[in-house]
Amino acid sequence: MKFFIDTANIDQIRDAQELGILDGVTTNPSLMAKEGITGKNNILKHYVDICNIVDGDVSAEVIATDLAGMIREGEALADLHEQIVVKVPMIRDGVKALKYFADKGIRTNCTLVFSPGQALLAAKAGATYVSPFIGRLDDVSSDGIHLISEIRLIYDNYGYETEILAASIRHAMHIIDCAKVGADVMTGPLSAIEGLLKHPLTDIGLEKFLADYNKGN
Ligand code: G3P
Repeated sequence: MKFFIDTANIDQIRDAQELGILDGVTTNPSLMAKEGITGKNNILKHYVDICNIVDGDVSAEVIATDLAGMIREGEALADLHEQIVVKVPMIRDGVKALKYFADKGIRTNCTLVFSPGQALLAAKAGATYVSPFIGRLDDVSSDGIHLISEIRLIYDNYGYETEILAASIRHAMHIIDCAKVGADVMTGPLSAIEGLLKHPLTDIGLEKFLADYNKGN
C-alpha cells in the first residue's frame, strides 16, 4: 500500500519523507488555509515547494466548479511540475474534466467521493486515483471502510486501473483496516502514520535487551 501524507505542513512532509516511507502528498484548500497559505500565487508556489521535498505524486486541487474553469486550472497545475496530480471534485463537470484530462494524459485524483456509484463513475471517466473520504463517513455513522471494500470489489470485477486512495484517514486503525480491504493508497496525517510505529512492548523489550547487554560491560 502506498503512503501519502495529507497536509500542507512542510515540516510534517519533511518528517514523513525522512522516515523513508512516503509515496506522495495530498492537500486541499482547507489544509492550505490551515498553514496560512492563501492567494493563488502563494498556493502554486507551495505546491512546487512540496514537489521539491518528496519523490512521489502531489495532488493539487482545482477551485473552479465549471468544466472550462477546471480545465484551465488543471492544465496550469499540471504544468507546474511533473509530480502534480490534478484533484477534481466528484460533480457533473468534474466527471467531464476527468475524461478530458485522461484523454490528454494528465493524471487526476477524483475527490469528495462518498459512494460506490461515484467511484464507478470516476473510474469510467479514467481517473488515476479516486478518493473516498472514510473519516467523514464514520463521522455521520456510515461505514467508511465498508465503502473501500465495495469499491475494491467493483474495480476488481472489471479490472479498472483507477487506484483507490483512502482519504480522510484519522488514526492508525483506519490505515490497518484500509490495508486489510485492499486500498491501493492511504492518505492521512503524520499522527496516524506514527501511530503504526508505537507499541509499549517494543519499548519495554528494547529497554530489557539494552540492560542485559550492559550487565556484561
Ligand atoms: O484527504 C481528504 C482529507 O483532507 C479530509 O480529511 O479529516 O478533513 O475529513 P478530514
